[in-house]
Amino acid sequence: MLVLHLSDLHLSRYGETGTWSVAESEDRPGEVLHLWERWRIEGLRSLRKNRPAKLRLVDPEGVVHKVRSWPKRGDDKAVDRLLALAMERHETSAERLIESQPTPTELHALLRLDPANTNLRFLEMLAQVLKVEPELIVITGDITDNGFGYDLVRHYLARWIEQQRLLVVPGNHDTYEMIPRKGRKQRAAAKEESFRAFARDLGLTLGDEGAWLRRVEDVALVGLNSCKPPRTPLSASGKVSAAQLEWLESLGAEPELRTARLRIGLMHHHLLRMPFALGKRSPIEVGMRLRNAPDVMRACTTAGLDVLMHGHRHHGYVVQLPFHPMVVSSPSSTLGCKFARRDYAWVMDLDREHPHPVMHTFEGLRAGMKPGASLFNHRHNKLS
Ligand SMILES: [Fe+2]
Ligand SMILES: [Fe+2]
Repeated sequence: MLVLHLSDLHLSRYGETGTWSVAESEDRPGEVLHLWERWRIEGLRSLRKNRPAKLRLVDPEGVVHKVRSWPKRGDDKAVDRLLALAMERHETSAERLIESQPTPTELHALLRLDPANTNLRFLEMLAQVLKVEPELIVITGDITDNGFGYDLVRHYLARWIEQQRLLVVPGNHDTYEMIPRKGRKQRAAAKEESFRAFARDLGLTLGDEGAWLRRVEDVALVGLNSCKPPRTPLSASGKVSAAQLEWLESLGAEPELRTARLRIGLMHHHLLRMPFALGKRSPIEVGMRLRNAPDVMRACTTAGLDVLMHGHRHHGYVVQLPFHPMVVSSPSSTLGCKFARRDYAWVMDLDREHPHPVMHTFEGLRAGMKPGASLFNHRHNKLS
């Protein structure tokens, strides 16, 4: 049974990633200067000087996409540029991509305009990795960038969903926001509900804390929810609750897990520090860690898990510590691997006596980009 490990898709309404703000939650109302397909170009006044200060592009759901300073005299292209961006976004919306799947030529053309567009890169990646014909697909969190985009997965991985062969755990982007902004709690609750609805569609029965257990043939898979938000703002760290760890340890005695030939755990946050980087120091990763990583590793080892798969870091690696589960870290399947700066996904043949992930590389549009150009110039490093 081949399993494909995907992670950190960061899908969104239009495939854009990054900081979000909702126009309605801001104090200053905007004056609509231009309207196209329910997209608005608004002018904002400076509160202090009471004169036009900024332009912003707002999508039909009220999310601000781009803010520009007020155009200088003679710069009549400013509005056109925002309008062009609205049209580009409209083309890459999840709805449009579901309505009609772009041909490879259309996809290539759209990616040339917006190489880091995660919705487009998701389609580009699937076209190549699904060739391995995985019998099981797992996604270890950050499926969405901000709680929107599950429909793309529902549509493009429908075959695996119907067979209950798509398994997922949530990531920090699917569940909470790092930046304290008005309405954050309500948005987090809505995100949580969207994730639970998605998990239900996959046939997963989540416990109160979001953990699940699933048996696929003679393999047992356990999903842990590591997305317990920290108290500190601007942190994307996580924690697996004590209740989940207790449950996990008790699972060791359950026949569903005990009688399995292979036991795999899935979670979003990483368990190991990263001391390996060729000739460099460890990467600085502020506010990223799993706050109770040693406890989680202990519980996973006690439960007899053989493999632990995770994402979050956007770095890919495989580490086998003696007498511990093998740790498999997936890069972002849409934005690539920060370490290798290549596109790949882990594929593992679970029928082998000692399964080990094999790198399935694929050529993204990046292959055709100029030397030095990379998606890492497109906000990659801000995401986790
Ligand atoms: Fe993450
Ligand atoms: Fe991520």
